[in-house]
Amino acid sequence: MASADTRLSPVVDRDAFGRQGLGAMRLREQTAGGTDRDPVGVVRAALDAGITMVDTADAYQNEELVGRAIRGRRDEVLLASKFGLVWRGEIAAGFDVQADPSYMRQACEASLRRLGVDEIDLYYLHHRSDKTPIEETVAAMAELVDQGKVRALGMSNVTADDLRRAHQVHPIAALQEQWSLTQRDIEQQLLPTVAELGTVVVAHSPTSHGLLHQARSTAGEGTESGLHAALVEIGGTHEATAGQVALAWVHHRQQVHAVPVVPIPGTTSVSHLRSNVAAADLSLSDDELRRLDSFGAAS
Ligand SMILES: NC(=O)c1ccc[n+]([C@@H]2O[C@H](COP(=O)([O-])OP(=O)(O)OC[C@H]3O[C@@H](n4cnc5c(N)ncnc54)[C@H](OP(=O)(O)O)[C@@H]3O)[C@@H](O)[C@H]2O)c1
Repeated sequence: MASADTRLSPVVDRDAFGRQGLGAMRLREQTAGGTDRDPVGVVRAALDAGITMVDTADAYQNEELVGRAIRGRRDEVLLASKFGLVWRGEIAAGFDVQADPSYMRQACEASLRRLGVDEIDLYYLHHRSDKTPIEETVAAMAELVDQGKVRALGMSNVTADDLRRAHQVHPIAALQEQWSLTQRDIEQQLLPTVAELGTVVVAHSPTSHGLLHQARSTAGEGTESGLHAALVEIGGTHEATAGQVALAWVHHRQQVHAVPVVPIPGTTSVSHLRSNVAAADLSLSDDELRRLDSFGAAS
């Protein structure tokens, strides 16, 4: 993959993101197993393969591991982290959102410490808050930019209105939302605003949390087995796996919708990582894209 300029500007700098990032959410000491499943090795293999953006969050509880993995290679990395999502087993949703400025300032200091860096390249609000107006959160995040603790700002799990309001306070470099063949809400709900503001879309869970990697051709009826069969069949003509085709479909969104799109597949395996990187070069025909589109119309 082409290497990118990792000096992300506070505004929008598409090239700095690279074509594909590494979703680090699942990396844990506990996922280690041989050289293929060494979590530090997965991050380093990503950098070796030309990936620049490494995506973590305080809620993933692995910032120290990510910090260790990039040590000595800081200049090669566009380091992204997030704050605001707090696990709470005692409430029904399983998590709470804290986006008030004083919490955010503490969260950022803690992330910087765990990551072992002076600056986070891209700092996201992980989830919209019903309690704190987004303008307040973003104004406080912008102070972190002024202080050199954060280079650029991102939003995740927000509405188009949130994104627009946030952008009025400070440029929002990236919007991170789920985008896959089975989750296409972003297309109707957020893309018009993204196109207008020039925000880069970071597409998380591009294989539907791994489901599309497991696609097999079965004789079943219905949209899901139809999609799975199409992925396997199209993969067969490209000597690719079903998961690679699903990932390539997300890469193609950039041309289809004329917005910058950077998928961040997650993996705990070096061999899977290499397979995912290769999917960025998989060119699907218009007929193949149309066929895949027919299964997952935006809701
Ligand atoms: N902003 C948010 O709210 C939010 C929410 C969820 C995720 N994210 C971000 O998005 C990233 C990706 O999300 P995700 O991990 O849920 O979904 P994903 O990338 O769609 O799928 C990951 C799953 O696919 C498997 N996999 C990956 N590559 C494979 C391959 N080549 N062959 C076979 N299996 C493969 C992984 O298992 P192996 O480990 O065995 O490869 C894992 O179980 C996360 O790391 C995180 O950075 C953000």
